Amino acid sequence: PFPNAIRLVEVAPRDGLQNEPEPIDTATKLELIDRLGAAGIRYIEAASFVSPKWVPQMADHRDVMAGLTRREGVTYSALTPNLKGLEAALECGVEEVAVFGAASETFSHKNINCSIAESLERFAPVLERAKDAGVRVRGYVSCVLGCPYEGEIPPAKVADVSKALYEMGCYEVSLGDTIGTGTPLKAKRMLEAVAKDIPIDKLAAHFHDTYGQALANLYAVLEEGIAVIDSSVAGLGGCPYAKGASGNVASEDVIYMLNGMGIESGIDLDKLAETGQWITLAIGRPNRSKVGVAMAAK
Ligand code: HMG
Ligand code: MG
Repeated sequence: PFPNAIRLVEVAPRDGLQNEPEPIDTATKLELIDRLGAAGIRYIEAASFVSPKWVPQMADHRDVMAGLTRREGVTYSALTPNLKGLEAALECGVEEVAVFGAASETFSHKNINCSIAESLERFAPVLERAKDAGVRVRGYVSCVLGCPYEGEIPPAKVADVSKALYEMGCYEVSLGDTIGTGTPLKAKRMLEAVAKDIPIDKLAAHFHDTYGQALANLYAVLEEGIAVIDSSVAGLGGCPYAKGASGNVASEDVIYMLNGMGIESGIDLDKLAETGQWITLAIGRPNRSKVGVAMAAK
Protein backbone atom coordinates (compact mmCIF):
# COMPACT_ATOMS: atom_id res chain seq x y z
CA PRO A 1 0.00 0.00 0.00
CA PHE A 2 1.16 3.52 -0.76
CA PRO A 3 1.78 5.88 2.16
CA ASN A 4 -0.68 8.75 2.75
CA ALA A 5 2.10 11.24 3.28
CA ILE A 6 5.83 11.40 2.78
CA ARG A 7 8.71 13.38 4.24
CA LEU A 8 10.98 14.87 1.62
CA VAL A 9 14.68 15.22 2.43
CA GLU A 10 16.01 17.98 0.22
CA VAL A 11 19.67 17.38 -0.56
CA ALA A 12 20.41 20.03 -3.20
CA PRO A 13 22.56 22.27 -0.98
CA ARG A 14 24.79 19.25 -0.24
CA ASP A 15 24.48 16.44 -2.81
CA GLY A 16 23.30 18.93 -5.43
CA LEU A 17 26.23 21.29 -5.13
CA GLN A 18 29.13 19.18 -3.80
CA ASN A 19 30.37 18.26 -7.26
CA GLU A 20 30.14 21.71 -8.86
CA PRO A 21 33.56 22.58 -10.27
CA GLU A 22 33.24 26.35 -9.91
CA PRO A 23 33.04 27.85 -6.43
CA ILE A 24 29.52 28.79 -5.39
CA ASP A 25 29.40 31.56 -2.83
CA THR A 26 27.99 30.96 0.60
CA ALA A 27 25.31 33.61 0.08
CA THR A 28 23.88 31.68 -2.89
CA LYS A 29 23.81 28.48 -0.83
CA LEU A 30 22.06 30.28 2.00
CA GLU A 31 19.49 31.76 -0.33
CA LEU A 32 18.86 28.31 -1.81
CA ILE A 33 18.32 26.85 1.66
CA ASP A 34 15.99 29.69 2.58
CA ARG A 35 13.93 29.35 -0.59
CA LEU A 36 13.60 25.61 -0.04
CA GLY A 37 12.30 26.27 3.46
CA ALA A 38 9.87 28.84 2.07
CA ALA A 39 8.55 26.20 -0.34
CA GLY A 40 7.50 24.11 2.63
CA ILE A 41 10.40 21.67 2.80
CA ARG A 42 10.86 20.54 6.38
CA TYR A 43 14.19 18.76 6.13
CA ILE A 44 17.20 20.22 4.35
CA GLU A 45 20.67 18.74 4.14
CA ALA A 46 22.55 21.99 4.26
CA ALA A 47 26.26 21.18 4.37
CA SER A 48 28.95 18.56 4.61
CA PHE A 49 31.73 18.53 7.19
CA VAL A 50 34.19 16.63 5.04
CA SER A 51 37.76 17.36 4.09
CA PRO A 52 38.00 20.49 1.91
CA LYS A 53 40.78 18.72 0.01
CA TRP A 54 38.39 15.96 -0.94
CA VAL A 55 35.33 18.11 -1.61
CA PRO A 56 36.33 21.77 -2.03
CA GLN A 57 32.77 22.89 -2.76
CA MET A 58 31.71 22.06 0.82
CA ALA A 59 34.65 23.90 2.42
CA ASP A 60 32.38 26.70 3.66
CA HIS A 61 30.35 24.29 5.81
CA ARG A 62 30.85 26.39 8.96
CA ASP A 63 29.69 29.59 7.28
CA VAL A 64 26.66 27.84 5.82
CA MET A 65 25.57 26.35 9.14
CA ALA A 66 26.27 29.56 11.03
CA GLY A 67 24.59 31.75 8.41
CA LEU A 68 21.29 29.90 8.28
CA THR A 69 18.07 31.69 9.04
CA ARG A 70 16.38 28.84 10.86
CA ARG A 71 12.74 28.36 10.14
CA GLU A 72 10.45 26.91 12.74
CA GLY A 73 9.86 23.23 12.12
CA VAL A 74 12.70 22.80 9.63
CA THR A 75 15.63 20.49 10.33
CA TYR A 76 18.98 21.52 8.88
CA SER A 77 21.39 18.62 8.77
CA ALA A 78 24.96 18.00 7.67
CA LEU A 79 27.17 15.09 6.71
CA THR A 80 29.82 14.14 9.26
CA PRO A 81 32.05 11.21 8.23
CA ASN A 82 34.12 11.19 11.41
CA LEU A 83 34.53 12.76 14.84
CA LYS A 84 36.44 15.72 13.45
CA GLY A 85 33.49 16.55 11.22
CA LEU A 86 30.99 16.00 14.00
CA GLU A 87 32.82 18.25 16.47
CA ALA A 88 32.91 21.05 13.92
CA ALA A 89 29.23 20.56 13.13
CA LEU A 90 28.32 20.61 16.83
CA GLU A 91 30.20 23.87 17.26
CA CYS A 92 27.93 25.30 14.56
CA GLY A 93 24.82 24.18 16.43
CA VAL A 94 23.78 21.42 14.05
CA GLU A 95 20.70 19.54 15.27
CA GLU A 96 21.05 16.48 13.11
CA VAL A 97 23.88 14.82 11.18
CA ALA A 98 24.45 11.92 8.82
CA VAL A 99 27.19 9.33 8.47
CA PHE A 100 27.70 7.70 5.09
CA GLY A 101 28.86 4.21 4.32
CA ALA A 102 28.63 2.00 1.28
CA ALA A 103 27.64 -1.50 0.25
CA SER A 104 30.70 -1.65 -2.06
CA GLU A 105 34.24 -2.04 -0.71
CA THR A 106 35.85 -0.23 -3.61
CA PHE A 107 33.45 2.69 -3.41
CA SER A 108 34.02 2.93 0.33
CA HIS A 109 37.77 3.26 -0.26
CA LYS A 110 37.36 5.82 -3.05
CA ASN A 111 34.80 7.90 -1.18
CA ILE A 112 35.95 7.86 2.44
CA ASN A 113 39.37 6.20 2.22
CA CYS A 114 38.65 3.12 4.30
CA SER A 115 37.00 -0.29 4.13
CA ILE A 116 33.37 -0.87 5.03
CA ALA A 117 34.39 -2.46 8.34
CA GLU A 118 36.70 0.46 9.15
CA SER A 119 33.97 2.93 8.28
CA LEU A 120 31.62 1.28 10.75
CA GLU A 121 34.34 1.48 13.41
CA ARG A 122 34.69 5.19 12.70
CA PHE A 123 30.96 5.79 12.83
CA ALA A 124 30.50 4.16 16.25
CA PRO A 125 32.15 7.01 18.20
CA VAL A 126 30.37 9.56 16.00
CA LEU A 127 27.04 8.05 17.02
CA GLU A 128 28.04 7.94 20.68
CA ARG A 129 29.20 11.55 20.72
CA ALA A 130 26.11 12.69 18.81
CA LYS A 131 23.87 10.87 21.25
CA ASP A 132 25.56 12.61 24.19
CA ALA A 133 25.00 15.93 22.45
CA GLY A 134 21.34 15.12 21.76
CA VAL A 135 21.86 15.09 18.01
CA ARG A 136 20.11 12.52 15.84
CA VAL A 137 22.10 10.61 13.25
CA ARG A 138 20.92 9.46 9.87
CA GLY A 139 22.82 6.73 8.02
CA TYR A 140 23.48 6.50 4.30
CA VAL A 141 24.38 3.42 2.35
CA SER A 142 25.77 4.08 -1.13
CA CYS A 143 25.78 1.76 -4.14
CA VAL A 144 22.64 -0.11 -3.11
CA LEU A 145 21.70 -0.78 -6.73
CA GLY A 146 25.13 -0.88 -8.31
CA CYS A 147 28.67 0.40 -7.93
CA PRO A 148 30.72 2.41 -10.44
CA TYR A 149 33.72 0.17 -9.72
CA GLU A 150 32.27 -3.23 -8.83
CA GLY A 151 29.06 -3.32 -10.84
CA GLU A 152 26.35 -5.48 -9.28
CA ILE A 153 26.01 -5.37 -5.51
CA PRO A 154 24.13 -8.24 -3.84
CA PRO A 155 21.04 -7.13 -1.86
CA ALA A 156 22.36 -9.14 1.11
CA LYS A 157 25.41 -6.88 1.25
CA VAL A 158 23.18 -3.79 1.30
CA ALA A 159 21.11 -5.40 4.05
CA ASP A 160 24.21 -6.14 6.16
CA VAL A 161 25.57 -2.59 6.06
CA SER A 162 22.13 -1.08 6.60
CA LYS A 163 21.54 -3.30 9.60
CA ALA A 164 24.91 -2.37 11.09
CA LEU A 165 24.09 1.35 10.80
CA TYR A 166 20.63 0.88 12.25
CA GLU A 167 21.86 -1.21 15.18
CA MET A 168 24.56 1.35 15.85
CA GLY A 169 21.83 3.91 16.44
CA CYS A 170 21.04 5.59 13.12
CA TYR A 171 17.36 6.50 13.43
CA GLU A 172 16.90 6.13 9.69
CA VAL A 173 18.88 4.50 6.89
CA SER A 174 18.84 6.12 3.48
CA LEU A 175 19.41 3.74 0.59
CA GLY A 176 21.51 5.40 -2.11
CA ASP A 177 21.39 4.44 -5.75
CA THR A 178 24.53 6.50 -6.17
CA ILE A 179 24.91 6.00 -9.92
CA GLY A 180 21.25 5.61 -10.80
CA THR A 181 21.59 2.22 -12.47
CA GLY A 182 18.69 0.63 -10.60
CA THR A 183 15.40 -0.44 -12.14
CA PRO A 184 12.05 -0.82 -10.33
CA LEU A 185 11.91 -4.54 -9.65
CA LYS A 186 15.55 -4.59 -8.63
CA ALA A 187 14.84 -1.71 -6.24
CA LYS A 188 11.96 -3.70 -4.74
CA ARG A 189 14.10 -6.79 -4.26
CA MET A 190 16.85 -4.76 -2.62
CA LEU A 191 14.33 -3.11 -0.31
CA GLU A 192 12.78 -6.44 0.62
CA ALA A 193 16.21 -7.71 1.67
CA VAL A 194 16.89 -4.62 3.80
CA ALA A 195 13.40 -4.54 5.31
CA LYS A 196 13.85 -8.01 6.78
CA ASP A 197 16.00 -6.41 9.48
CA ILE A 198 14.80 -2.80 9.57
CA PRO A 199 11.20 -1.51 9.82
CA ILE A 200 10.19 0.12 6.54
CA ASP A 201 9.36 3.39 8.32
CA LYS A 202 13.04 3.66 9.28
CA LEU A 203 14.18 3.54 5.66
CA ALA A 204 14.51 6.23 3.01
CA ALA A 205 15.04 6.15 -0.75
CA HIS A 206 17.91 8.22 -2.14
CA PHE A 207 17.84 7.69 -5.86
CA HIS A 208 19.97 9.38 -8.49
CA ASP A 209 18.52 9.77 -11.96
CA THR A 210 21.54 9.05 -14.14
CA TYR A 211 19.69 6.48 -16.25
CA GLY A 212 16.28 8.16 -16.00
CA GLN A 213 14.90 5.43 -13.72
CA ALA A 214 14.60 7.31 -10.45
CA LEU A 215 10.87 8.12 -10.54
CA ALA A 216 9.99 4.60 -11.61
CA ASN A 217 12.18 3.21 -8.84
CA LEU A 218 10.54 5.54 -6.35
CA TYR A 219 7.09 4.43 -7.43
CA ALA A 220 8.19 0.85 -6.84
CA VAL A 221 9.44 1.46 -3.31
CA LEU A 222 6.52 3.74 -2.40
CA GLU A 223 4.33 0.77 -3.17
CA GLU A 224 6.34 -1.18 -0.59
CA GLY A 225 5.66 1.52 2.00
CA ILE A 226 8.70 3.79 1.80
CA ALA A 227 7.64 7.22 3.08
CA VAL A 228 10.89 9.20 3.14
CA ILE A 229 12.33 10.40 -0.15
CA ASP A 230 15.63 12.19 -0.73
CA SER A 231 15.66 14.48 -3.74
CA SER A 232 17.33 17.55 -5.14
CA VAL A 233 15.66 20.62 -6.60
CA ALA A 234 16.25 20.92 -10.38
CA GLY A 235 17.86 17.46 -10.21
CA LEU A 236 21.15 19.05 -9.26
CA GLY A 237 24.08 16.99 -8.25
CA GLY A 238 26.39 14.05 -8.45
CA CYS A 239 28.99 12.37 -6.34
CA PRO A 240 32.63 13.34 -6.87
CA TYR A 241 33.68 9.72 -6.36
CA ALA A 242 31.18 8.24 -8.79
CA LYS A 243 32.18 9.42 -12.26
CA GLY A 244 29.29 10.19 -14.55
CA ALA A 245 26.74 10.06 -11.76
CA SER A 246 24.16 12.74 -12.40
CA GLY A 247 21.90 14.43 -9.94
CA ASN A 248 19.35 13.08 -7.53
CA VAL A 249 15.81 12.66 -8.71
CA ALA A 250 14.40 16.19 -9.05
CA SER A 251 12.27 17.32 -6.11
CA GLU A 252 9.77 19.00 -8.46
CA ASP A 253 9.27 15.74 -10.37
CA VAL A 254 8.76 13.82 -7.13
CA ILE A 255 6.21 16.30 -5.78
CA TYR A 256 4.32 16.42 -9.09
CA MET A 257 4.06 12.63 -9.06
CA LEU A 258 3.02 12.51 -5.40
CA ASN A 259 0.41 15.24 -5.94
CA GLY A 260 -1.03 13.16 -8.76
CA MET A 261 -1.17 10.14 -6.46
CA GLY A 262 -2.81 12.06 -3.62
CA ILE A 263 0.20 11.59 -1.34
CA GLU A 264 0.75 14.56 0.99
CA SER A 265 4.10 16.30 1.26
CA GLY A 266 3.22 19.77 2.54
CA ILE A 267 5.33 21.29 -0.24
CA ASP A 268 4.30 24.13 -2.53
CA LEU A 269 5.18 22.94 -6.03
CA ASP A 270 5.05 26.43 -7.57
CA LYS A 271 7.55 27.81 -5.08
CA LEU A 272 9.72 24.73 -5.44
CA ALA A 273 9.76 25.02 -9.25
CA GLU A 274 10.64 28.73 -8.99
CA THR A 275 13.53 27.79 -6.71
CA GLY A 276 14.75 25.26 -9.27
CA GLN A 277 14.68 27.91 -12.00
CA TRP A 278 16.41 30.43 -9.79
CA ILE A 279 19.28 28.19 -8.65
CA THR A 280 20.02 26.79 -12.10
CA LEU A 281 20.25 30.31 -13.48
CA ALA A 282 22.36 31.41 -10.53
CA ILE A 283 24.94 28.67 -11.03
CA GLY A 284 24.66 28.36 -14.80
CA ARG A 285 23.33 24.81 -14.94
CA PRO A 286 20.53 23.30 -16.98
CA ASN A 287 17.35 22.58 -15.05
CA ARG A 288 17.15 18.78 -14.94
CA SER A 289 13.61 18.71 -13.59
CA LYS A 290 11.17 18.01 -16.41
CA VAL A 291 8.34 19.38 -14.28
CA GLY A 292 10.42 22.48 -13.48
CA VAL A 293 11.12 23.11 -17.16
CA ALA A 294 7.49 22.53 -18.15
CA MET A 295 6.17 24.84 -15.44
CA ALA A 296 8.65 27.57 -16.35
CA ALA A 297 7.50 27.42 -19.98
CA LYS A 298 3.84 28.07 -19.11
P1 HMG B 1 41.40 10.68 5.17
O1 HMG B 1 42.42 11.36 4.32
O2 HMG B 1 41.42 9.20 5.26
O3 HMG B 1 41.34 11.28 6.66
O4 HMG B 1 39.97 11.16 4.67
P2 HMG B 1 42.42 11.60 7.71
O5 HMG B 1 41.76 11.46 9.03
O6 HMG B 1 43.70 10.86 7.43
O7 HMG B 1 42.70 13.17 7.47
C1 HMG B 1 43.33 13.67 6.32
C2 HMG B 1 43.15 15.18 6.25
O8 HMG B 1 41.78 15.51 6.17
C3 HMG B 1 43.68 15.91 7.48
O9 HMG B 1 44.09 17.19 7.05
C4 HMG B 1 42.45 16.04 8.32
O10 HMG B 1 42.51 17.12 9.21
C5 HMG B 1 41.38 16.30 7.28
P3 HMG B 1 45.63 17.50 6.71
O11 HMG B 1 46.37 17.15 7.97
O12 HMG B 1 46.01 16.64 5.53
O13 HMG B 1 45.62 18.97 6.38
N1 HMG B 1 40.06 15.90 7.72
C6 HMG B 1 38.98 16.70 7.74
N2 HMG B 1 38.82 17.99 7.41
C7 HMG B 1 37.58 18.50 7.55
N3 HMG B 1 36.53 17.80 7.98
C8 HMG B 1 36.65 16.53 8.32
C9 HMG B 1 37.93 15.93 8.21
N4 HMG B 1 38.39 14.69 8.45
C10 HMG B 1 39.69 14.68 8.15
N5 HMG B 1 35.59 15.84 8.75
C11 HMG B 1 37.64 11.61 4.91
C12 HMG B 1 38.77 10.66 5.25
C13 HMG B 1 36.35 10.92 5.23
C14 HMG B 1 37.78 12.89 5.73
C15 HMG B 1 37.73 11.95 3.41
O14 HMG B 1 37.79 10.76 2.68
C16 HMG B 1 36.60 12.80 2.93
O15 HMG B 1 36.45 13.94 3.31
N6 HMG B 1 35.77 12.26 2.04
C17 HMG B 1 34.63 13.01 1.53
C18 HMG B 1 33.78 12.15 0.72
C19 HMG B 1 32.53 12.88 0.33
O16 HMG B 1 32.19 13.92 0.86
N7 HMG B 1 31.83 12.31 -0.65
C20 HMG B 1 30.60 12.83 -1.08
C21 HMG B 1 29.50 12.60 -0.09
S1 HMG B 1 28.89 10.93 -0.08
C22 HMG B 1 27.71 10.89 -1.34
O17 HMG B 1 27.61 11.83 -2.10
C23 HMG B 1 26.75 9.73 -1.41
C24 HMG B 1 25.39 10.04 -0.82
O18 HMG B 1 24.78 11.12 -1.47
C25 HMG B 1 24.49 8.79 -0.95
C26 HMG B 1 24.46 8.23 -2.36
O19 HMG B 1 24.10 8.94 -3.31
O20 HMG B 1 24.82 7.06 -2.48
C27 HMG B 1 25.48 10.38 0.67
MG1 MG C 1 23.72 11.03 -3.31
